[in-house]
Amino acid sequence: MEHLLKLSSLSPAEITHILDVADEYKRLHRAGADPKDLQGKAVALMFGKNSTRTRTSLEVGIYQMGGLGTYLSADDLQIARGEPIQDTARVLGRYYDAIVYRTFKQSDVEALAQYSGVPVISGMTDYAHPLQVLTDLMTVRERRGTLAGLKAGFVGDGYNMANSLIVGCLMMGMHLTMACPKGYRPAADVLFFARNYGDRFRLVQDPDEAARDADVLFTDVWTSMGMERETERRRRDFHGYTLDAARMALARPDCLVQHPLPAHRGEEITDEILEAHAGEIFDEAENRLHVEKAVLGILLAGK
Ligand code: CP
Repeated sequence: MEHLLKLSSLSPAEITHILDVADEYKRLHRAGADPKDLQGKAVALMFGKNSTRTRTSLEVGIYQMGGLGTYLSADDLQIARGEPIQDTARVLGRYYDAIVYRTFKQSDVEALAQYSGVPVISGMTDYAHPLQVLTDLMTVRERRGTLAGLKAGFVGDGYNMANSLIVGCLMMGMHLTMACPKGYRPAADVLFFARNYGDRFRLVQDPDEAARDADVLFTDVWTSMGMERETERRRRDFHGYTLDAARMALARPDCLVQHPLPAHRGEEITDEILEAHAGEIFDEAENRLHVEKAVLGILLAGK
């Protein structure tokens, strides 16, 4: 692995390795024995969108590994005043050992990787959220012991989480039924990728189909960052797509729920369901830390 920009650039063996290393970092952290694998290394944390989990888990994780993480708001950088991404990349690559970038366009993260000369990790774009989906896979595997053969459902917007979930779940041997309203389908290239997996992937409009007999149900907000002006239209278009008690009753009795957070309670998930599944949802939030340490440990410390 040279960069982490999208999951489709990884092999199933590489994803499994990330999850194994994350499990080990978690075990060592619980034992009070964090390895200082980033001693002397510096990581730029460049954010062009808001963040609670990604920013703080990276800052804490890099500290636990003995390195330096520098938070850089894209609004404060010259990039906000028009400095090209290629020049920013070549400058930051002279100072830092790796760069995490959260922004809107996938092409900007890819340009950063092309020009920086150091590993680049996507902190989320409009197209993909690889760190989050790796974390979801870690959390489900931790609870179920395996991923292959599990039946997953997704109810919501065919946006960045959906794109990365399709790739991650299918590569790890899961079945995935994804329910998205008309007009909110996942990216065309991701649907093309999914064709390689036959009937292990289904795209439907009926959210009950995604929930039926599911081992794990995923959802995400209806209005992502940068779409705020569409909020009212999206509330109308996603009406009926809430993960609520009636829908959960269609899933297996021990069905897990995963939500990347922040949640809009009462929209994509009810307060009742979020609280009933808070155990695995906040494990998922915690596991961001361990997955990010694993990705950095692999890229910078030969894990
Ligand atoms: N799930 C996630 O990426 O959270 P933040 O937006 O808070 O980083």
